[in-house]
Order: sequence, then C-alpha cells, then structure tokens
Amino acid sequence: MKIAIAADHGGFELKEALKKHYGDAKLTDLGTFNRESVDYPDIAQIMVQTLRRHEADLGILICGTGIGISIAANRCKGIRAALIYSEETARLAKEHNNANIIVFGGRTMKPEDVIQYIDAFLAASYEGGRHQKRLDKLELME
Ligand code: RB5
Repeated sequence: MKIAIAADHGGFELKEALKKHYGDAKLTDLGTFNRESVDYPDIAQIMVQTLRRHEADLGILICGTGIGISIAANRCKGIRAALIYSEETARLAKEHNNANIIVFGGRTMKPEDVIQYIDAFLAASYEGGRHQKRLDKLELME
C-alpha cells in the first residue's frame, strides 16, 4: 500500500516524527517541508490530487487540530477523511467508513498515540455490506 503524508505548519513536527518512525520508504512526503506558515486548504488539495492520480492509496493529513484540514479534504468528491482520536475510531474509520484519508492534530496528539492509531487503521478491513450504501449516498450529496 502506498501512503502519502502531508501537513501544514501546525502538523509539521508530528509529520516528521511519523516519517522517522515508519521510514521514508513507507511514507511519501507531500510537504510542507518547514515550519513557515501555510494554508491547510492548499495542503489538503495537494493530497486529494495525489489520491486522484492514484499515486497513493491512503493519505495521512495533519494540521494543528486536524479539524481545518478535515473540513478542507471532505469538500472534495470521493474523499472520506476521518479525524482519528483513538484506536477504536481508527479501526471503525476503516471497517465502516473505508476512509481514504486519516487525519491527526499535531498540536493535540502525541506521536506515540498517533502511531497506535495508524497501526490500528492499517490492521483493519472495510466491512462493506450495509456500509456501502451509506458511502454511495455520500457521493450524491450536494
Ligand atoms: C494553523 O495555525 C491552524 O489553524 C491549523 O493548523 C489548524 O489547526 C486548523 O484547523
């Protein structure tokens, strides 16, 4: 599975910590590449385009709280961005929502916790069935 990661300045340090843990080979870094202020919609847009070009199967997005970048990503058709805050929500984001982006808060979460959440998400499988008609309805929303 190809995983891309991107963050605004509020998520830069957490992004770097995750890259250190998982290694550069596992995570494709889409930026931002320093602590200078950037706008989280721009970062979300880069991630969405990367997924649409099938250059990654899963995205990890990070801003200060995870909220702004979740809002931005979820405005884009076909995107199911889940703000994860526990191992349970990580598992359910895959099993029920088949999230294609998982989101974290660089100023609100500890790297060691986020690593547990990512591992729980990657270990889970989408259940399909009754959940698929709900995902289909998401695509019809205006
Ligand atoms: C940037 O200062 C901050 O607003 C952003 O990282 C994020 O937390 C927004 O939701």
